[in-house]
Amino acid sequence: MKALVYGGPGRRSWESVPDPSIVEPTDAVVRVDSSTICGTDLHILKGDVPEVTPGRILGHEAVGTVVEVGAAVTTVAPGDRVLVSCITSCGRCRFCKEGRYGLCTGGGGWIFGHLIDGLQAEFARVPFADTSVYRVPRGLSDEQVLFLADILPTAYEVGVLNGRVEPGDTVAIVGAGPIGLAAIMTAKLHTPGRIVAIDLAEARLEKAVEFGADVTIDNGREDAVAKVMELTGGLGADVAIEAVGVPETFELCTELIRPGGRVANVGVHGHPATLHLEKLWIRDVVITTGLVDTSTTPKLLRLIEGGRLDSTQFATHRFPLEQTEEAYDVFGAAAETHALKVVLEGTPVHRELLAREEAFVRG
Ligand SMILES: NC(=O)c1ccc[n+]([C@@H]2O[C@H](COP(=O)([O-])OP(=O)(O)OC[C@H]3O[C@@H](n4cnc5c(N)ncnc54)[C@H](O)[C@@H]3O)[C@@H](O)[C@H]2O)c1
Ligand SMILES: [Zn+2]
Ligand SMILES: [Zn+2]
Repeated sequence: MKALVYGGPGRRSWESVPDPSIVEPTDAVVRVDSSTICGTDLHILKGDVPEVTPGRILGHEAVGTVVEVGAAVTTVAPGDRVLVSCITSCGRCRFCKEGRYGLCTGGGGWIFGHLIDGLQAEFARVPFADTSVYRVPRGLSDEQVLFLADILPTAYEVGVLNGRVEPGDTVAIVGAGPIGLAAIMTAKLHTPGRIVAIDLAEARLEKAVEFGADVTIDNGREDAVAKVMELTGGLGADVAIEAVGVPETFELCTELIRPGGRVANVGVHGHPATLHLEKLWIRDVVITTGLVDTSTTPKLLRLIEGGRLDSTQFATHRFPLEQTEEAYDVFGAAAETHALKVVLEGTPVHRELLAREEAFVRG
């Protein structure tokens, strides 16, 4: 088969690799029908994630069709369409039993395109299939569910739920990339009073408005703290969600938060940020961190199935899977291409089969 292989910092190629096969009885092998690229893949290519070694197939988001299952797999069978999430759950360790799959100590957690071969490939081995994949409800397209593999549960769990967004809250979201936009979309499930999106890029702020932000602030040109204070009668935001991953934006969140407010950090940080305890100690501010667990995936899937959430607006570009390298170029140059998420589509044969199945479902 072919796959996108990491060759060390700055190097990647779409090349022939051995087909995956069942290794453990709890494995499945899935044909990838749709995949996508994450900002974290770009971090890996910069060499920021040294656990990823040359030769590793990248990618941790996919919708696919099961082609083979191990002897112990009982809940999915060949032919089933499944969402393969960025987080794998062994189902047995202490953290999996608490629904904190991101912290799995039994061989799961974030492993695809990190510790094992990933999902930007024609086929993939999926460990712990019973406890890790989600069947795609009939009638939903790949694109409707693909972004549940990472950005939606990440923004919802690590941003909105950790930040405990409540009806009426002023929610400041710093960073309007796919994660910040997904935070806007899922914060709205909790009926905030006002969503304030903060970014340096005009195009991203325009997207933020499309996704439902009420106020935008270009913090390259405006004083974001002063503007949030003005909006909130001098108190500050109830919730601040950090969706960038640099020291300045974390520190900005701690400055624009009201006394007793909540700062939810989502960004992946590569450098130390200053925690201004000399100012914060007296302000009763809660600060949370986290890796996504994907424990809300079934809930988000029901919202999509019920037409309450439409995540297809994240898809700005589409490429056949075999053009994954070109897709990386477009995704990596988001400032010029205005890319949010690029969809990598499986071979035409797969697409034809899917179209036939969808036509059958519609009757
Ligand atoms: N915690 C988790 O489980 C988890 C999971 C997935 C992604 N992430 C992280 O979330 C972060 C956001 O992901 P993304 O895909 O949206 O990234 P992205 O790079 O596409 O978006 C970041 C946005 O921040 C803006 N920005 C940059 N510097 C800024 C500044 N100083 N002030 C305001 N805005 C600024 C950029 O213009 C951009 O729109 C990344 O750090 C990513 O690695 C975390
Ligand atoms: Zn990701
Ligand atoms: Zn586990």
